[in-house]
Amino acid sequence: MSADFRDRDVISITDFSREEILYICEAGRKMYEMERAGKRNALRDALKHRTLSYMFYEPSTRTRTSFNTGMRELGGRYDGFSGTEGTSVMKNETVRDTVTMMCANHNDVIVMRHPLDGSLQWAADVANIPVINGGDGKNEHPTQALLDMLTIYVLKGGKLDGLRVGFGGDLSHGRTVRSLSLALSHFEGITIRWAAEDFLGMPADLAKLLAAQGVRVERDRSVRDVMAQVDFYYMTRPQLERMPGVTQKDIVGMMKQYRIDLGKVEGFDARLLHPLPVNSEIAEIDYRVYFTPAQAFFAQAEFGIFHRKALLHEMLGHEGYRRYSGELPAELGVGNNRLQRKIHGAKQSGMFIDKIHDGTVIDHLGVGALRAVDEALDLETRGYSCTTAVISEKPTPFIKTNLRDLSERDLKRIALISPEPTIDSIRDGRMTEKFVYLLCANGNCISRTVNEDVPPRFYDDGGAIRCRYCRRPYTITHRKVTEEERRAYLGSLPKKIETVAYPD
Ligand code: CP
Repeated sequence: MSADFRDRDVISITDFSREEILYICEAGRKMYEMERAGKRNALRDALKHRTLSYMFYEPSTRTRTSFNTGMRELGGRYDGFSGTEGTSVMKNETVRDTVTMMCANHNDVIVMRHPLDGSLQWAADVANIPVINGGDGKNEHPTQALLDMLTIYVLKGGKLDGLRVGFGGDLSHGRTVRSLSLALSHFEGITIRWAAEDFLGMPADLAKLLAAQGVRVERDRSVRDVMAQVDFYYMTRPQLERMPGVTQKDIVGMMKQYRIDLGKVEGFDARLLHPLPVNSEIAEIDYRVYFTPAQAFFAQAEFGIFHRKALLHEMLGHEGYRRYSGELPAELGVGNNRLQRKIHGAKQSGMFIDKIHDGTVIDHLGVGALRAVDEALDLETRGYSCTTAVISEKPTPFIKTNLRDLSERDLKRIALISPEPTIDSIRDGRMTEKFVYLLCANGNCISRTVNEDVPPRFYDDGGAIRCRYCRRPYTITHRKVTEEERRAYLGSLPKKIETVAYPD
């Protein structure tokens, strides 16, 4: 087995092949064997003079400390922040600037957790050093999936094919079920069974994706039904922090028949995994289960150290380091989200009401969105003209202004209120450009934030448009965009997520 992890970003489990998963599991198993043999510090000089920066915008016990432990046992150091209190994030510093500072601070690798989906791809774009995703919103937690795979790999004696895995708790709002099931999908004969409240159940898009990869996905009526048919039962915590408007009481009610208690593990051979923490109020695992042979989640947590130690060793265990130049790659300032439209001669610069000689027409706004867009742009206070219009000849409202170039922040503010606006640039009485401004539709994607200045970028994933950051599919719904224009746009996109080249 061979795989190259040297200086590689770890953003999504989908970036790993079967061979790479097996390779990193085997590397983790060697760390586990070393520990069992009493050789914890056998590699104590491997990462001497290397430093890990941890940037945790959200709480963590295991992920942060196990990376630190891995670094310490390999002779490296770690530094960073856990929670934004006491950092300049409190002074509105962006992710871009904070990540850049960690590069300027002569770190060798960043491990980051952030509440926004896609924030880790953005951090990887910004950083000139490798970045590891410690959890981005409800998107991904790839090293959790890899440590889960390592746990199973060791407990099953090096076998990952033919596994039967049950999922319970919250399959919908967490990132671990998504990442682990996608990792499992690389292997042969995988069956996933689940039993959960509808609201917390397996997301339809994930079930479809898994089925397309040849995974058998079955929903059972009860936890005991699942438990009877699996090798591992993977319980998860209801992610209340990602369920606006839902109370703990609501969740306790939903979890009633799905909590793991003694009656659900006794008489079965399934080993119980959990990424942890367990929520002590909901108690999705009764504490008495902790003392049964089913319990394997504390060993699983220690496998987190073996996996992360192996990963860091593979990534950084070589001579040399990345020098910092102080320059930023141009791509960080430019999106690829402007779908160019054909300019038809007849309506040049006119648009039904007073013509403008130089400026911009913001067209095809949503019905009822005019006032909100007008207020968000605040053009008159900024010293520009602003004519808003709803006229009987046109079903959608529009705005004309003598502001020539709307900033990216202006465009994003418009698209957040009214998706897919058409922007017409008027110069010397002629329309010189006409484009539709596309913005990822995932409400929690970092590319939708205004102040982070993340340029919206998409890629062509085999004919489907996907957001570069959160990787959600994007569907163009603009009623005026022609098939030819859509195809031309698709053709202009990269075919995959290409690495941003950083000046040395
Ligand atoms: N499993 C996990 O990610 O735990 P922490 O939130 O404590 O890092």
